[in-house]
Amino acid sequence: MKQPIGVFDSGYGGLTVLKELVRQLPQYDYLYMGDNARAPYGPRSFETVYHYTLQCVQWFFSQGCELVILACNTASAKALRTIQQNDLPGIAPEKRVLGVIRPSTEIIGHYTKTGEIGILGTTGTVSSQSYPIEIARFFPGLKVYQEACPMWVPLVENNEYNKPGADYFIQQHLNALQAQSPGIDTILLACTHYPLLLHKIRAYVGEHTTILSQGEIVARSLIQYLQNHPNMEQRISRGGGRQFCTTDSVADFDNHASIFFGEPVSSSHIDLS
Ligand code: DGL
Repeated sequence: MKQPIGVFDSGYGGLTVLKELVRQLPQYDYLYMGDNARAPYGPRSFETVYHYTLQCVQWFFSQGCELVILACNTASAKALRTIQQNDLPGIAPEKRVLGVIRPSTEIIGHYTKTGEIGILGTTGTVSSQSYPIEIARFFPGLKVYQEACPMWVPLVENNEYNKPGADYFIQQHLNALQAQSPGIDTILLACTHYPLLLHKIRAYVGEHTTILSQGEIVARSLIQYLQNHPNMEQRISRGGGRQFCTTDSVADFDNHASIFFGEPVSSSHIDLS
C-alpha cells in the first residue's frame, strides 16, 4: 500500500466509519490505526487529546498517507482545527487532515422539520461546543441541544451493549436530552461507538425522530471532497488494500474489531513512543 487513506480513532469505534468508507469507496487503499493504549479520549483534556492526535497524524504521514480522516469525534472536536491551522503548514503543507464534525454539521439542517437538533457525544465532544458552533455556521436558525453520555462507550467496549443493563443508561441520557425540549426531531450520534446502540436508542425516542449515524455521512462527504480535489484523489493509492494497526494488544483489537467492522480483522502492533 503506497498512499492509503489514513483513518484514525482513539480505538475501535472508527471502524464503524471505515466500514462505510470501504462500502462506498472500495477502490482505495486504507490504513486504520486505533490508539487503544491511550483510549478513551472522551474524558481527556484539550491538551492531551491534541498531543495524542498530532502524534498519531504524524505516524500516518510517516506511513505515506496524504489524507488522514479523524474518525473520532473527540479528536475532531479538540485537535483538528489546531492541527489544520497551526501544524500542517509547517510539517506537511501538501497533506490534509479531515474530521467528522463538518460533514455532519453541514447537512444536519436538512433532516429537521422543527428546527431542533439533539447531539449525543462524549463529555469531551459536548464540552468543546464544536457541534453548536459549527451548526450555527451552516444553519444559523437551528436550536441545538446536547447530552454527554459517558457510560455509553464503556458499555460498548465491555460488550455489555446488548444486555438488559445497558437500557438503564441509554434511557437515562435520551430522557435527559429530550427533556431539554419536546421539539427535538433529529438526533445525531456524534460518537463512533453509538451506532452499535442504535437498536436500543430507537426504543427510547419518538417514532418520528430521525437518528443519524456518521459513517454514511462521512463517506458521502469524502466522495464529494475527492471530486472537488482531483489532485488529492490522484495521490491516493488504489488496490482495495486494508491494513489495521493498534497501539495496544493485537489480540484484543482483533477480538473487538469485528464487532465494529462487521468482518474479521487482523491487526499489527505499533509503538508510538
Ligand atoms: N472515538 C471516540 C469518539 O468518537 C469515542 C471513544 C473515546 O472516548 O475515545 O468520540
